[in-house]
Amino acid sequence: MQGAAAQDTDTGGIGVAPRVRELRWPADREAVLSFQYEVYEHNFPGFRVTQSFLQEYAQQIRQAARSPYERLYVLEDEGRVVGFIWIEVRGTMIDPVIGYIKNVYVAPELRGQGQAQLLLSAADDWFRSQGCSKASLDVSVCNEAAIRCYQRAGYETARYRMEKRY
Ligand SMILES: CC(C)(COP(=O)(O)OP(=O)(O)OC[C@H]1O[C@@H](n2cnc3c(N)ncnc32)[C@H](O)[C@@H]1OP(=O)(O)O)[C@@H](O)C(=O)NCCC(=O)NCCS
Repeated sequence: MQGAAAQDTDTGGIGVAPRVRELRWPADREAVLSFQYEVYEHNFPGFRVTQSFLQEYAQQIRQAARSPYERLYVLEDEGRVVGFIWIEVRGTMIDPVIGYIKNVYVAPELRGQGQAQLLLSAADDWFRSQGCSKASLDVSVCNEAAIRCYQRAGYETARYRMEKRY
């Protein structure tokens, strides 16, 4: 495999920078589950992550790790899992195969350094290798950091999802 998921980044001898690698199941399970509190509670205000939600999420990840249509990568820093991305390929009415980002996370202490770009770059590499014509994702309007992150990676707004409150 080429690209960000394939190699460590050389920091010129002052330490090894975080690197992207494929998820190892079940070794990475607890770290990835611990990320989901912030992912879901921040993006869906009012939602509370419960143990049963996490159990179901763990099942989905386990299945995804075996699926040829999905990939899971983690960001590892000195042996610690500090980030995560879950991606898949899917067809649409218009495009036979596009990439879709299902979930991305970087630990708070590593944010603001471009680490999510490593994960998104690994996604680009895999999507291209699968013949995707484009990549897409959904993000909540309240998640300004994520929107900036995706824009930095080249994503543009293509649709609005509108809601009306009663
Ligand atoms: C969204 C999220 C993944 C972004 O992670 P990140 O590592 O900070 O994002 P990036 O890699 O794009 O880094 C961006 C920041 O690093 C800075 N930066 C420093 N060096 C950089 C570099 N070499 N390349 C890119 N950005 C760099 C940028 O200026 C930017 O700062 P800003 O946000 O203040 O504008 C992270 O905030 C997160 O995990 N949030 C919680 C989970 C979540 O909501 N996920 C999204 C679900 S839709």
